[in-house]
Amino acid sequence: MIWKEKYKIGVPEIDGQHEELFARVTTFVQTLRSDKPWEDKVAKVNETLEFMKDYVVTHFQDEEAYQAEIGYPYLEKHREVHNNMVAYVAAVSEEYEKEGYKEELMQQFGGRLLAWLINHVVAEDQKIAEYARSKEVTQ
Ligand SMILES: [Fe+2]
Ligand SMILES: [Fe+2]
Repeated sequence: MIWKEKYKIGVPEIDGQHEELFARVTTFVQTLRSDKPWEDKVAKVNETLEFMKDYVVTHFQDEEAYQAEIGYPYLEKHREVHNNMVAYVAAVSEEYEKEGYKEELMQQFGGRLLAWLINHVVAEDQKIAEYARSKEVTQ
């Protein structure tokens, strides 16, 4: 998936984080789907899991702080969705540590991350920007 300008919500810090997420998830999925040797895939899984564990938490905190700042009315609901994602990443990470590299789990993880970009970053997060814009108009 390629990052597009239209996905921006107009907050440079958050837009930068989204762009980074796009880049990471895309190379992760590409590596998994490639015919690269198994060691390369394992290295990519390690790198991606390590990255995601911290980065999503930081990103979600920043995004929620922004929502609070503009008085976004769906913050609590949005926070719940974020928390589910954090729990999911932690669960995958735990299973990976226990079971090691399993193609099926990683394909699933890649698919879920892609779906996350499409359904959440591109769709749900855009609503924050819409709200911010509507507020500006009425103020
Ligand atoms: Fe986001
Ligand atoms: Fe979000």
